[in-house]
Amino acid sequence: MSTSSATQYSYFRQGFVPEAEAVLPIQNQSFLYGTSLFEGIRGYWEPEQNAIVVFRAKEHFERLLSNANIFGMIVPETVEECLQIVVDLIQKNGLKTDTYLRPTIFKDGCGVGPSLEKFPNSLSIFTTPLGAYVDIENGLNVCVSSWRRNADNAIPSRAKAGGAYMNTALVKTQALRDGYDDAIVLTQDGHVSEGSAMNLFMVRRGKLVTPSITEDILEGITRDTLMELAINELGMPVEERTVDRSELYVADELFFCGTGAQVAPITKVDKRPVGTGEIGEWSKQLQELYFKVVKNQVPKYSHWCQVILLG
Ligand SMILES: Cc1ncc(COP(=O)(O)O)c(C=O)c1O
Repeated sequence: MSTSSATQYSYFRQGFVPEAEAVLPIQNQSFLYGTSLFEGIRGYWEPEQNAIVVFRAKEHFERLLSNANIFGMIVPETVEECLQIVVDLIQKNGLKTDTYLRPTIFKDGCGVGPSLEKFPNSLSIFTTPLGAYVDIENGLNVCVSSWRRNADNAIPSRAKAGGAYMNTALVKTQALRDGYDDAIVLTQDGHVSEGSAMNLFMVRRGKLVTPSITEDILEGITRDTLMELAINELGMPVEERTVDRSELYVADELFFCGTGAQVAPITKVDKRPVGTGEIGEWSKQLQELYFKVVKNQVPKYSHWCQVILLG
């Protein structure tokens, strides 16, 4: 729920309804079995422009609608329609703060027995204020989780399926209970996959390295953004490949990235310092550039920014 006192609207069953009316019964299929797909999109409040700058919404909806094909959970809305819904929702809700948008494709029907066919598919979108999801300033203290990421032939991680986030919850909860800020997850065969709800980069031997898309990762939009900025703007060589767990302990730098996490440097992994134990130079440079780009301060990348004026 948002913290604003004004009525907040959600997109639900192809229309805009007050948030309190966008509700599902307890026998709803997606509630019972996690049969949903979702996205997380950020909008940055820019007071000088009196606007919310929504970052790479097009790519988020393209990912959502193509992932829907994995499960046959097709909805009638097109990417263009989704982008218009985002404009309408942000303007209706008028939140003058950093905002998170959560589109979800769900099964709009009730009944026991998991099924991807039985019930109609429906799209919902809500907005809520969101600040930092993890600490991005002080360097994270992380562990390698004893839980493994769900494999592609179990629940594909690239699909951003609701049910798969039980795995994320196990990973994150265990890390917090054990005194860490977050965790890195391995694949079933023991290679580095990603963070609990973010992708991972490592700086090693003068290269920016990230696990390849066949390592049970979500094909992150922030990951893609950073690779493009690293190559084109900062001249950093980038390598997508298999990463061993022990490489984490000999890396010069490590950082998480994601819509929620943004760019979050890691300074400790499994109680070992990462590199010098301080936030690394490449992490800093990428973080700085990332924040300029997402706030539409770099004209070359303004095509990634949807500037939505508020009243
Ligand atoms: C499991 C997982 N990996 C990676 C990411 C990062 O993806 P993106 O940059 O598209 O937000 C997310 C979501 O933020 C996630 O949930």
